[in-house]
Amino acid sequence: MPWLLPRRVNPGAERELERFLGELAERLADPATDRRLLVREILAQVMHGTGFEELAERAPLAALALDPANVTFEAEYYAATDQEKFQRVKPLLWMWKALDQTPLGQSVHAGVKIRATLAPFIFKRVGKNPKFFQNVEFSVGYNLELGDDVVVHRHVLLDDIGGITLMDRVSIADYANVYSHTHDVREQADVTLKHTVLGTGVRITYHATVLAGVRVGDDAMVATMAVVTRDVPPHAIVMGVPARVKRIKERPDCPYCNRGEPHPAERVERLPDRKGNPDFPVLRPPGFGVRLP
Ligand SMILES: CC(C)(COP(=O)(O)OP(=O)(O)OC[C@H]1O[C@@H](n2cnc3c(N)ncnc32)[C@H](O)[C@@H]1OP(=O)(O)O)[C@@H](O)C(=O)NCCC(=O)NCCS
Repeated sequence: MPWLLPRRVNPGAERELERFLGELAERLADPATDRRLLVREILAQVMHGTGFEELAERAPLAALALDPANVTFEAEYYAATDQEKFQRVKPLLWMWKALDQTPLGQSVHAGVKIRATLAPFIFKRVGKNPKFFQNVEFSVGYNLELGDDVVVHRHVLLDDIGGITLMDRVSIADYANVYSHTHDVREQADVTLKHTVLGTGVRITYHATVLAGVRVGDDAMVATMAVVTRDVPPHAIVMGVPARVKRIKERPDCPYCNRGEPHPAERVERLPDRKGNPDFPVLRPPGFGVRLP
């Protein structure tokens, strides 16, 4: 018996959802579409059952925040953000977040399909069958790369400002955090962007945190509540704060191990660390303070 069961909703509701998603994909694929206008119209319809213009006349405050031009994201305040790339994806990130606040977005059936439709127009690369549950947070969206069959559960934070690569079949459980930026200990404004890579089949379990610039090897597992500060070898199970390798999964059929070859994640080119703030052009020496005896 499979561990995930198929679920259906009423055929009428399914047809309406498919019609909406088909139109949405078509509009987003059209370079002439004004994403801001499209998003505020959809949000007015879903959240208030009316067109945006009519809502703006009747209830201006309700309309105000549905328009992506009237809201800001935290990423917009950072010098490290590529403002041009961000403005392009911003309306769709706003739609993603806003729909999470609605019954449509809270329904797993509808929500997963809507996010899968938006994903290719937001992220840097998207493989087949992306599955995002409710209340996932991103920093900029445009720096996230997804392989095939990636699953991201509720309340996960993907801080992709420095670049995050999630390879095929990565699974990230509820309330986990994956970072790609860090601050100098002495100069908080000295931000470094670091590319973070989670290899094929990696499982980040509930409430775990992966710090910026880490590469988690293929088939590795990060135990619940762990804080990963260094690279993790393939097939390892890491636990604790800071996370340490406590077990290695037995994989007698692993072709890379048998041939003594690097695993797929080890072959991913990691982007060099970059300064997120031009006021601090020189990389400071690593380390943070004097260790007490
Ligand atoms: C890694 C994990 C699977 C280990 O579970 P387990 O095999 O049942 O492990 P046990 O409870 O037998 O513990 C084995 C050892 O690891 C330690 N340990 C287990 N989980 C730990 C954790 N999260 N952090 C630190 N140590 C942990 C135990 O204290 C024990 O140590 P000991 O041998 O010194 O006594 C589990 O901790 C975990 O993280 N599960 C996440 C669940 C999950 O799959 N979530 C994803 C849903 S999509």
